[in-house]
Amino acid sequence: MNLPVTEWQAIAAASDLTPGQFLEFHLTQTTGEPASVPLTGFAFLDGDTPRAYLNACPHLGIELNWLPGRFMDVDNLFIQCSTHGALFKPGSGECIAGPCQGDALTPLEIRLQNGEVQVRAQD
Ligand code: FES
Repeated sequence: MNLPVTEWQAIAAASDLTPGQFLEFHLTQTTGEPASVPLTGFAFLDGDTPRAYLNACPHLGIELNWLPGRFMDVDNLFIQCSTHGALFKPGSGECIAGPCQGDALTPLEIRLQNGEVQVRAQD
């Protein structure tokens, strides 16, 4: 999904981004008509690297998780679609198994600044 680049948006305190934690948030962008609702995303630490993606599977656009903050498979290796079991690489968002294999999650830019976790859509 291509999003217009927007201003940086604070989603949490930087101290909330801890290993194993997934932060869910709403973006200022919406899904667009006809049902215009805020897009959602999630952020986490991939090793030491902060990452953020839209919470939308590339093939149906639905959110990946059923439970708050639960995005990983049972082996804690891949992000998983809880509806279909599709697996995504945490570092690239690439789908390696499931109905969207070869497609990828939409990455967001993420930075830690002023004690905040900030995200925005990428170019
Ligand atoms: S919605 Fe695409 S794999 Fe589940």
